[in-house]
Amino acid sequence: MNGQVNVVDHPLVQHKLSLMRMKSTSTSSFRALLAEVSLLLGYEVLRDLPVQPVTIDTPIARTTVPMLDGKKIVLVSIMRAGAGILDGMLQLVPSARVGHVGLYRDPHTLAAVEYYFKVPKQMGDRDAIVVDPMLATGNSAVAAVTRLKETAPRSIKFVCLVSCPEGLAAFHRHHPDVPVHTAAIDSHLDAHGYIVPGLGDAGDRLFGTK
Ligand code: URA
Repeated sequence: MNGQVNVVDHPLVQHKLSLMRMKSTSTSSFRALLAEVSLLLGYEVLRDLPVQPVTIDTPIARTTVPMLDGKKIVLVSIMRAGAGILDGMLQLVPSARVGHVGLYRDPHTLAAVEYYFKVPKQMGDRDAIVVDPMLATGNSAVAAVTRLKETAPRSIKFVCLVSCPEGLAAFHRHHPDVPVHTAAIDSHLDAHGYIVPGLGDAGDRLFGTK
């Protein structure tokens, strides 16, 4: 497989993901778990963020300490299920900017069709983190990152909860330069484009629309 994939196999992430997979898990629990897992994924994904030296005064002395510039981070949510990942990540970096990409899956071809795109200005100074719970066919992720690259952000990472070999291969065929961070690589895709065993439709489970 081309491209970089980081499987976040921390036991807390794995346990919470297992709860999310259960079909008996309620909408409210699913939503809370997704926010918790996203925070933990974010902790891992943001580990190489650049920090700047800033001079401060402690109660004892003046010193120079490392600090993040949160405004340089743009979380780009693939609508609609990406919204579930935003909550947890924004807890970690409340000053991050947020972009949205609206794509729907054509039910016949499974191709991604764009209907909305809005990101902050001056993307060239910013590190973009694209979020979507499921990397299934890869069509949405590929289209979102292709579109985002037109704005030339300083860097791009892709974060999902569950991926599969087909989605990872498609993603890295188009974007070998974009690392993927995921909590799981599942077995395969079914004929309808669902990840097996997966967790079902992440948007429906998050918003209770089924
Ligand atoms: N989107 C989902 O929400 N779930 C899948 O299994 C595949 C795509």
